[in-house]
Amino acid sequence: MRRNPVIPFAVIAVLGIIAMIIVSTAGNNQREAIQNEEEGGGEQQEETVDANPEEMFQSKCSSCHGGDLSGGAGPNLQEVGSRYSAEEIEDIIVNGKGSAMPPGLYTGEQATQLAEWLAEKK
Ligand code: HEC
Repeated sequence: MRRNPVIPFAVIAVLGIIAMIIVSTAGNNQREAIQNEEEGGGEQQEETVDANPEEMFQSKCSSCHGGDLSGGAGPNLQEVGSRYSAEEIEDIIVNGKGSAMPPGLYTGEQATQLAEWLAEKK
């Protein structure tokens, strides 16, 4: 039986196309991985800045409570940890206090971290 002489070329062509597809998908995956890493890296940096209680305090609380916690428009917080537990401080951060302490400057995880940091001030 005579074999069709075109078949070997067709097989090579198909293999070549498959190889190209594999190589280009692999390339795309790598590019995505690199992009994700870059984006992830950026986000991580932001997160660490936002999750740093001291910087959170400086950016939204120090205007009233002083950069060194010594107070100003708001009360001195240098020993706030001996007056309140972390939970109580978190409640004050999230819900405010009286009429002059604004609620919701931080919420969720950020409020928890900031409260824990302040609760250590004794
Ligand atoms: C606009 C000014 C202002 C800002 C901004 C502010 N506070 Fe206050 N804060 C006050 C005032 C005024 C009080 C006192 C409220 C009262 O007792 O009626 C207070 C009270 C508190 C108390 C209770 C202290 C105590 O001894 O009773 C805590 C804790 C506190 N603030 C934490 C924070 C944190 C943390 C931030 C930042 C997320 C912040 N505050 C931002 C004005 C401010």
